[in-house]
Amino acid sequence: PAGKGDGARGLRFGAVAPNTVDAVVVPDGYRQNVVIRWGEPILRGAPAFDPEHQTAAAQAGQFGYNNDFLALLPLPGEHGRQLLVANHEYTDEVLMFRGYDAANPTRQQVEVAWAAHGLSAVVVEEDRRTGKLTPVPRHHLNRRVTATTEFRLTGPAAGSDLLKTSADPTGTKVLGTLNNCSGGTTPWGTTLHGEENFNQYFANSGRPTDKRYGIGTGATERKWERFDQRFDVAREPNEVHRFGYVVEFDPYDPSSTPRKHTALGRFKHEAATVRLTADGRPVVYSGDDERFDYFYKFVSSKRMRKGSGRAVREHNLSLLDEGTLYVARLTGDSPAAEIDGTGTLPADGEFDGSGAWIPLATATADGAVSHVEGMTADEVFVFTRLAGDKVGATKMDRPEDIQPNPVSGKVYVVLTNNSNRGVGANAKADEANPRTANKHGHVLELTERRNRPESLTFAWSLFLVAGDPDDPATYFAGFPKDQVSPISCPDNVAFDPHGNLWISTDGNQLGSHDGLFGVATRGERRGELKQFLTVPTGAETCGPIVQDRRVLVAVQHPGEIDGASVEKPASTWPDGPGKIVRPAVVAVWRADGRDIGV
Ligand code: FEO
Ligand code: CA
Ligand code: CA
Ligand code: CA
Repeated sequence: PAGKGDGARGLRFGAVAPNTVDAVVVPDGYRQNVVIRWGEPILRGAPAFDPEHQTAAAQAGQFGYNNDFLALLPLPGEHGRQLLVANHEYTDEVLMFRGYDAANPTRQQVEVAWAAHGLSAVVVEEDRRTGKLTPVPRHHLNRRVTATTEFRLTGPAAGSDLLKTSADPTGTKVLGTLNNCSGGTTPWGTTLHGEENFNQYFANSGRPTDKRYGIGTGATERKWERFDQRFDVAREPNEVHRFGYVVEFDPYDPSSTPRKHTALGRFKHEAATVRLTADGRPVVYSGDDERFDYFYKFVSSKRMRKGSGRAVREHNLSLLDEGTLYVARLTGDSPAAEIDGTGTLPADGEFDGSGAWIPLATATADGAVSHVEGMTADEVFVFTRLAGDKVGATKMDRPEDIQPNPVSGKVYVVLTNNSNRGVGANAKADEANPRTANKHGHVLELTERRNRPESLTFAWSLFLVAGDPDDPATYFAGFPKDQVSPISCPDNVAFDPHGNLWISTDGNQLGSHDGLFGVATRGERRGELKQFLTVPTGAETCGPIVQDRRVLVAVQHPGEIDGASVEKPASTWPDGPGKIVRPAVVAVWRADGRDIGV
């Protein structure tokens, strides 16, 4: 059974059983601490957290809300310290402000929310004696980026008419980043952050292009448009075109202006992860998290340079400005009649097939060319979903994280769920998305031709079809199903140093809390999936990082249950009864100090 402490190297721990405990539950023999919570001061001069008297100025110097993606970067010369970068995807006003009136938010509340979005960089240090990881406040690399920080739009569409606004006639300067979901760490020492559900911040649109992105015709839920007209599409039509990009952040230079890369296209970027070609060019994978949307890759035409001098860093920050953006088209190899929507494996024993990367547009130093009939290059980069529609890309069950395995090169595409698959007039189940009304999601394994990231064709197969292992419509890479943990709604992933895949979940449909799972991708135990931790009530598990001796997770939106509020909390994590619920980052390590899962 999954409770045994044996397993593949890196996964030898006693699996945590499904539960609904309002806590982070870890395997026997492991310890945990809360590294940093929403509101903890990180910048010089920032006050202690006081939820009853929160201000925008305080929040702008404190750790933001709803931590999602996490990166841990080395800090050479500072023993026992690392640089933590976190996304703050969105705000839960009803859980942040006592007496919040959703119909009439105050300017103060809205400005706190702006300051609680964005990114944090904060140095953390390890206590050798206890194993705890704790923040180093006021470190010179600590930084907050918010919904009002200046960004530079770069790449082919920067400066185009589609990106000009009354506040920025150059079309290159934008304030803030919104809804940063997952991300990635580049080999040149920067971090990438996907702007995901940016649609929810913009009001009063009626354009078909906006409709394709889910931008509504009326007021927004947060009502920001009352306080800054750039959030009102009727008054500032192009501001919304300046969100939905991959953001690049240089955490080692606190004075740097973060960038939004137009060459990687505009959609609900879940994440952005990098693999280098043999000649040093970055290839970036990214999914568009929407039911029936696509996944993409960008192949740069520029080579990374090694070193850390200013000229080298400046060069590397331009790597994602030139290259070609592609979208994926997948073809199953089994007869369509064998894919009946129940999840029953076809006669060849696998959901698998081949695929092609369809070029959308190419950016060069001299300009950009579109490969999509009827669309200019600027339109492809700004209305990328429409370009994917035109070339017949494959509609997937919510592409969340996509990540290449640094050990094998195989790319894992996480499809979180799609309740509408095959329902009504919607696209039917196909071999790559084989379940009608897919509640639990699946994970696709993609092998680029000759294992080269720049290849234009690939092979694929479904690695996991998630759910209760007792459900015949589940699949764990062929591993015996009586020996795996139940899993539902895979979302973000990470790899440990052994090449095992670690999967965090969002929206568990099996009646227990979300959590983090490890699964072997190679060898005899390929497909053996074990639960490593569970998170508190209402939370999703984000930002997993698995180092040799430590696992980090971001506990996002704890207590987010319908009807919950500051007055009526559904969770009191992490500080206990009487204290406001707070999203936070948690570190887990072995009590005996040895490596995780060996
Ligand atoms: Fe923010 Fe697709 O999860
Ligand atoms: Ca097949
Ligand atoms: Ca996510
Ligand atoms: Ca999610």
